[in-house]
Amino acid sequence: MSASTQSVPPINAWQAFDGTRRHGRTRHLLSLDDFEAAAQRTLPRPIFGYVAGAAENSQALDDNRRAFDELAFVPRVLCNVARRDQGVTLFGQRYASPFGIAPMGIAALSAYRGDVVLARAAARAQIPAVLSGSSLIRLEDVMAAAPGTWFQAYLPGDTTRIDALLRRVAEAGVQTLVITVDIPVAGNRENNVRAGFSTPLRPSLRLAWDGMVRPRWLVGTLLQTLARHGMPHFENSFAERGAPILSSRVQRDFAARDHFDWDHIAHIRRQWPGALVIKGILSPADAALARQHGADGIVVSNHGGRQLDGAVAPLRVLPRIVDQAGGMVVMLDGGIRRGTDVLKALALGAQAVFVGRPFNYAAAVDGEAGVAAAIELLRAEVDRNLAMLGATHCGALGPQHLLDRRATLITPDHFAPH
Ligand code: GLV
Repeated sequence: MSASTQSVPPINAWQAFDGTRRHGRTRHLLSLDDFEAAAQRTLPRPIFGYVAGAAENSQALDDNRRAFDELAFVPRVLCNVARRDQGVTLFGQRYASPFGIAPMGIAALSAYRGDVVLARAAARAQIPAVLSGSSLIRLEDVMAAAPGTWFQAYLPGDTTRIDALLRRVAEAGVQTLVITVDIPVAGNRENNVRAGFSTPLRPSLRLAWDGMVRPRWLVGTLLQTLARHGMPHFENSFAERGAPILSSRVQRDFAARDHFDWDHIAHIRRQWPGALVIKGILSPADAALARQHGADGIVVSNHGGRQLDGAVAPLRVLPRIVDQAGGMVVMLDGGIRRGTDVLKALALGAQAVFVGRPFNYAAAVDGEAGVAAAIELLRAEVDRNLAMLGATHCGALGPQHLLDRRATLITPDHFAPH
């Protein structure tokens, strides 16, 4: 049976009451946040530091969380919520949940075959997963393992190189292409320097030590990868293979990223017949431009706080962006750790959200089973919280379900009929 025809297991909404136990290595991990500490114990310091870290003072990272925390729910009761379905349709494809796995670079350093692990766990759970352009496993291999996977590209302002990559992506069978646009230059991730991380990684005694003190990772991820697949390279940044992940001299090619502009998006739209998503939108004016350039969807995102520090949290601008979206699918990432966060974003107009770091940690802790467990936890939270909000499906959520927790006075219009 293919992943897409398997059915997703039923959710037990009373699990926390009836003592039902989960199994496997992650059975003690009860929320997405629990995976972070477990991954920190599993991953070498530079790799954990790279995944967990953000730009400069982490203001954008912290505000992503704060924006969710500032919203309170106003549930409705006695709605008969027995028949709940959290599924959503994106670009003509039905997904079992309103969340997916965000693109994350070098995931194959967090877990053995990390990109395949993430994509396959997502396919089995019938949720979207996005393969990062900064990945170490060939796009073609990931598409063969999980055919519905979306692909995310970082593009230079160079149409020859763009066209060559687009041809490769189309030939690999990708139907949904995500272009990330918030990285004209690298964010200032001084935490990477402190943690001893760079791409490529530079061999040093310290790096060797960081690997040696994580023996499970050393054997299960690094040595197994080297033995079976050789030295990992950046496989999907361009049509041709990129730099190796470990080298004392080689530099990665970031040329002309800062030349990339809306004319290139217009060019891509003319070439690319599939769904086109622009990721990294925070301004309503850019959302309008994305619509005018024929994008099918956008991801409201500050790159998990990893690019411009102090960039606004996506949740704060979401309603204004939804106003500009027209027929585009509006998605959001950044700071989602709970089913309640998923539902807050949906209530403000997102059609789906993406979650990054927690799924990377889950892959590090227990490979595909870990990612499946993390998906299952979030799916159960979404289900439970939909019921407690008095909703049977995601489309029933709206601003009437939310209040600003900091408001000292709630005006009567908030409760006007919707
Ligand atoms: C890559 O996109 C990263 O944020 O590290």
